[in-house]
Amino acid sequence: MKGRFVTFEGIDGAGKSTHVAQSIEWLRMRGYDVLATREPGGTELAEALRELLLHRTMSLETELMLVFAARRDHLERRIAPALARGTWVVCDRFTDSTWAYQGAGRGADPERIAWLESWVQGGLQPARTYWFDVEPQLAARRRTGSREADRFEREGVAFFARVREGYRQRAAADPARIVRIDGSGSVEEVRVILEKDLATICST
Ligand code: TYD
Repeated sequence: MKGRFVTFEGIDGAGKSTHVAQSIEWLRMRGYDVLATREPGGTELAEALRELLLHRTMSLETELMLVFAARRDHLERRIAPALARGTWVVCDRFTDSTWAYQGAGRGADPERIAWLESWVQGGLQPARTYWFDVEPQLAARRRTGSREADRFEREGVAFFARVREGYRQRAAADPARIVRIDGSGSVEEVRVILEKDLATICST
């Protein structure tokens, strides 16, 4: 069996967490071996870098390099070995987050992101990416009440509008990989859409 690399994306509060968990469950029930992981994070070192990224003040340049440093460790130690042995990898966020948050959100130079991406990942890209798209205002309402906000979650609606636009552009540029999911739909509606699409990936 061939391992597939599937990622989930969207602005904070888009509602992807429930669906990440349900998709992993759906695959495991069908007998697939699944590595469930996330970015930034996924290894001990990358989780330590995540703590810094989410809670320490730093320049955009430092932030961009830390994100990719965490990604490199995650790829080397977990993602690449899993895919090589035929395990599926379901990752909560990956490089589209960098394009959307550091790129569109904070204004990092696209050439720099592209350079780091090809250096860190070579040609590796997810087979499928589910982009949970919601209005920034709705996402902000969903975020209030959850645990104390991190450095990204504290950003305002204007920032998340730019991040969303970044995702929209990524999806437009790569429609074969990135599937837009209406994040304002019910959990049940979204689950049906995801399971149908996962089934097509399983059969290819
Ligand atoms: P998130 O995955 O939403 O986790 P939680 O739901 O536990 O808060 O949080 C990770 C944050 O990191 C999110 O705000 C987006 C940000 N991020 C980037 O800015 N760039 C990246 O490349 C990645 C992977 C995440």
